[in-house]
Amino acid sequence: MENRATIRNAEAWIDNGGEPIRAHGGWMLQQDGYYYWFGEDRTDGRKVSCYRSSDLCHWESRGAVLTLASKVGSVYYRTSLELFPSDKEDNSFGQGSVIERPKVLHNERTGKYVMWMHWENGRNYNDARCAVATCDTIDGEYVYHGSFNPIGHMSRDCTVFQDTDGSAYFISAARDNADLLVYRLSDDYLSIEEHVKTLWPGQYREAPAVIKRNGIYFLVTSACTGWLPNQGAYAYSDSLTGRWSQLMPFGDATTYDTQPAFIVPLQSRGEMTYLYVGDRWDPSNYHHSTYVFLPLSFPSDNELKLEWADRITIDLSNGIIEPQSEPSGLHRIKSCGAERYLALVIEKDGAAEVTGNVLSYASEEQKWIVEPAGEKGYVRIRGKAGGRCLTVNLCSDGEQLRDEQAVLARSDVPCCSEWSLEDASDGESGVLIRNRTTGKVLSAGFGEGQDRKHAQVHVTEASKHDPRKGRDPQRFEILNVY
Ligand code: GAL
Repeated sequence: MENRATIRNAEAWIDNGGEPIRAHGGWMLQQDGYYYWFGEDRTDGRKVSCYRSSDLCHWESRGAVLTLASKVGSVYYRTSLELFPSDKEDNSFGQGSVIERPKVLHNERTGKYVMWMHWENGRNYNDARCAVATCDTIDGEYVYHGSFNPIGHMSRDCTVFQDTDGSAYFISAARDNADLLVYRLSDDYLSIEEHVKTLWPGQYREAPAVIKRNGIYFLVTSACTGWLPNQGAYAYSDSLTGRWSQLMPFGDATTYDTQPAFIVPLQSRGEMTYLYVGDRWDPSNYHHSTYVFLPLSFPSDNELKLEWADRITIDLSNGIIEPQSEPSGLHRIKSCGAERYLALVIEKDGAAEVTGNVLSYASEEQKWIVEPAGEKGYVRIRGKAGGRCLTVNLCSDGEQLRDEQAVLARSDVPCCSEWSLEDASDGESGVLIRNRTTGKVLSAGFGEGQDRKHAQVHVTEASKHDPRKGRDPQRFEILNVY
């Protein structure tokens, strides 16, 4: 039977009941013709939600499988059962303890579904614990068994992996995210048995996800930049606990504005395909975060590749995943120093301001068109919203600087709207954005005592940056909008 469905990436997805799908940092399990999708739910005391679908496109909510009101019961000596710290009734993360990246495995031996997840106290990320819950059915009410530090280690971003021999592993970021630790689980999957491997010590990896393909293990992971996207990396090995390759980049500089959640193997007609599921976190509002489903490809047995597609058509009966895309032609311009995105804000009186704002995918103000400016090498940087160009603040006769610091956005195109994008000679990432007329470069930073919501954007003399002072305020990344 044909079962074709088209997924539109990074749009707001709703379930069959018309409610937003809340399943971030999630996981999927296949059973009886359905894919069950578990993930974070930060609304009304809910912690982990579950949906199911037979085509990966239309999702039926199965409700919250873990909530603040879930039954609790310890299976370990001195495991903390606290889900709702009494000193904090409500907070910006949602109510009570924070639960992130829930993953569920089915244990053949006990018949139980075992959920592993990341637990925090709801005030900060200092406790860094893992937590466990179980259920007799895949989408029933899970019983919460508490949180703990595995063998005393910190444990933040996490995943699980069930090997072909039935053994299972919990993998999580330890030592303040510096190391990724691999633990073998006990036969019932309820406890940590042994720390079997430390991956890439000191490299600060997050958001791990593991698959095994043709006997080779692949692990994808992100760098550690909170809700901001970064260049994803992967590695491979022929043994989970043996020697792994170095980390190699996959996707683009922002992993197409995603962070890995999990990879789901799709089996049809004996062929395996692998679907990458990423979270597009919105740092300006967690609840505006979206999802991205993209097929992974494998150019060779130990190479993994991810390409962007606006839409994918999945046909589970034939194992076909057809990607479709049109390039947006738009860019975001990120200040490497301030970690803010250039925004062209048009005031009510028609005046335009250029500031550095917190990343927001919905913001049209943060989208720019970078177009050639006649002569080779120069570009104009035009705001998508308002159509005005980045311009230095020169007097109309073009001779005298009126305010040498300010950057304007003008709708006419004076000569001082031409810029060059210069790669750093020191191998640092990002470009200098240099004005052709004045030779000055863009810079973004925060003034004394200024709130950090908006960075100020200026033009200044290019100066050699002293990395001891932090990140370079004159470096910018020109990123593609997907
Ligand atoms: C990310 C992490 C997310 C969440 C977030 C909070 O780095 O991958 O799962 O913990 O930080 O800032």
